[in-house]
Amino acid sequence: MTAPRMPSRLPEVGTTIFSVMSKLAAQTGAINLSQGFPDFSPPPLLLERVAHHMAAGANQYALMAGALPLREAIAEKVARLYAAEYDAESEITVTAGATQAIYSAVAACVRPGDEAIVFAPVYDSYVPAIELNGGSAVYASLRHPHYRPDWDEVRALITPRTRMILINSPHNPSGAVWSDDDLRALEALVRGTDIVIVSDEVYEHVVFDGAAHRSVVGYPGLRERSFVVSSFGKTYHITGWKIAYVLAPAALSAELRKAHQFIVFAVNHPAQLALADFMRAEPGFADGLAAFYQEKRDYLRRQFEGSRFRLLPCAGTYFQLADYSAISDSPDTEFAHWLTREKGVAAIPVSVFSPAPMRGPGERVIRFCFAKNEATLAAAGERLRAV
Ligand SMILES: Cc1ncc(COP(=O)(O)O)c(C=O)c1O
Repeated sequence: MTAPRMPSRLPEVGTTIFSVMSKLAAQTGAINLSQGFPDFSPPPLLLERVAHHMAAGANQYALMAGALPLREAIAEKVARLYAAEYDAESEITVTAGATQAIYSAVAACVRPGDEAIVFAPVYDSYVPAIELNGGSAVYASLRHPHYRPDWDEVRALITPRTRMILINSPHNPSGAVWSDDDLRALEALVRGTDIVIVSDEVYEHVVFDGAAHRSVVGYPGLRERSFVVSSFGKTYHITGWKIAYVLAPAALSAELRKAHQFIVFAVNHPAQLALADFMRAEPGFADGLAAFYQEKRDYLRRQFEGSRFRLLPCAGTYFQLADYSAISDSPDTEFAHWLTREKGVAAIPVSVFSPAPMRGPGERVIRFCFAKNEATLAAAGERLRAV
């Protein structure tokens, strides 16, 4: 058998680092603080409602844009949280995870020759989505240790070919959270242009120390041009369900749905109905998420006391960055593999989220996920203090 010879459409892309590190953790029996998923259960009521809707017969295709009760529940949530009206019929679309939401938004907007600005370190699905659709990624930097955007730099990157800017706050992997000033700066930059924005807000409920999440929804000059993406996976501890949603003005939503209907068409029906029931029954669940994860963040940070790791600030998400330069000079990918194999704790190297020319020389930083039970974090802490 001879496989057809075909140049790769994504020559730079290998297996995502999340799969690589999780596999290595499984092979070596390491405690897996690499990939971002909880090791605790979703709320029982949510599980009960899925079983209910399966038994009640919701086993065929949902509506293409999402089951209406869920879109209505999302509209109510967004109105309550951000005082913003989004029409369930024409401005809210349910997707198979944030990854598909982002891919569909990019596919709907980016044409060959277009440029899309991303911020490195960048969540690893954005650039392949841009490139598969014929666009090219233009990188702005979020510099260690604070990972703040430099708006003068971004301004200089905008050209007549800039079709899209993809942003992510709270930010994976750094845990940085954009301020009101950041969003105002972005709003000023795009005013009068045709640039569209994808705002990845999957960690919208996970902002710490009393700070508020700034959604682009609250900025008229951003809202009018934005696909706002949130993920139920992060909010309800159900990353395996792969359900998310997109808010966008009707004209943008219509374009998004043209792509969405041929990428996935419709999303798991009983799970959507269960989410709708749960959101109505327990609207406060998401409001409690920041306190829930802040406790875990603080617990993990205490685990590092007496270790040779130096912790970076963590303002949101369920990720903690740690500088290991007092332990090793090895590049972070090497160090993360060593830590997994030899010390039994898996983490994610941060440099993989940036293209080679943007990797700061000598940056020695890895990412730990603290969406874990205290027993898991304590066991990892014991091993990390011994490194
Ligand atoms: C910043 C960011 N965007 C998108 C996703 C993907 O979310 P989903 O699992 O809903 O596709 C993740 C998951 O880790 C993420 O961290």
